[in-house]
Amino acid sequence: MTDRARSNAAVEVFEQAASSYDRTGVSFFGPFGAELVRCAGIRPGDRVLDVGCGRGAVLFPAADATGPTGRVTGIDLAPAMVSFTAEDLRRAGLTHVDVRVDDAQQPDFPPGSFDAILAGLVVFLLPEPQQALRTYARLLRPAGRLAVSTFAAQDPAFVAAMDALAAHLPADQPRPAPAADPFADERTITATMAVADLAVITIRDYQVESKFRDVGHWMEWMWSHGGRALLRHIVPERRDAAIADAARALEPARVPDGGLALTTAIRITVATPRAGAPAS
Ligand SMILES: C[S@@+](CC[C@H](N)C(=O)[O-])C[C@H]1O[C@@H](n2cnc3c(N)ncnc32)[C@H](O)[C@@H]1O
Repeated sequence: MTDRARSNAAVEVFEQAASSYDRTGVSFFGPFGAELVRCAGIRPGDRVLDVGCGRGAVLFPAADATGPTGRVTGIDLAPAMVSFTAEDLRRAGLTHVDVRVDDAQQPDFPPGSFDAILAGLVVFLLPEPQQALRTYARLLRPAGRLAVSTFAAQDPAFVAAMDALAAHLPADQPRPAPAADPFADERTITATMAVADLAVITIRDYQVESKFRDVGHWMEWMWSHGGRALLRHIVPERRDAAIADAARALEPARVPDGGLALTTAIRITVATPRAGAPAS
């Protein structure tokens, strides 16, 4: 599969997940989005772009931070994400925020349009992340900030449960091939940003504990986001066995009230256009 085909498949997964994305009563995208906005240091009046906005985990806190004197634009390539989020914005009465269908690989705005660009858990889904970052550098005003979050560490019980599910994929289903990860660690991230004409200001990890009532709730959450990419390839006749294996793998995450608790760490990188880098 090419990078472009993988990226299209990811968008299709989010299109199907949009109605329940971040709406399963699990604390996960919300706190990560709020922390990304906090790290970006957004000020009242700022002009902000949120790429891969999903259901607004980053967009809504960004709108709070700019206040009505600022402007926040969210883009997402999944039309259902955009229409659900547009409806949520309308209900919240936020007139300084808009959302539209656009590609985070190459957002369509004039150079120097934004004080801040936010990319919450999306750059690793893009076919050419380094090129996208270079575009973001051009879209920022001088001294503007790019804030990007990527995954830093998954709970061992989550990794084991994913492996248990993946063992039930059909034999002809291609497994994700290990690829060079431009966001693997701080050194790689700094190098990736430098290639994109961005200088790193800070890199820090932030972790969240997510609670689930039971394995059924965990599965509901898995279907509501990128986890769906794996689940949809498990044929219906294998699903009960796959869930039973995942449940066994999740046992170490059991908490005294009978639910499950999983800890996930994200890495938040804040960068700024390098002085002297071309603006267009
Ligand atoms: C993991 S979700 C993150 C959503 C949101 N930023 C958050 O923190 O909850 C990734 C989002 O990126 C979107 N996406 C994936 N590829 C994209 C692309 N090339 N252009 C725009 N959006 C994209 C998906 O549709 C999805 O809404």
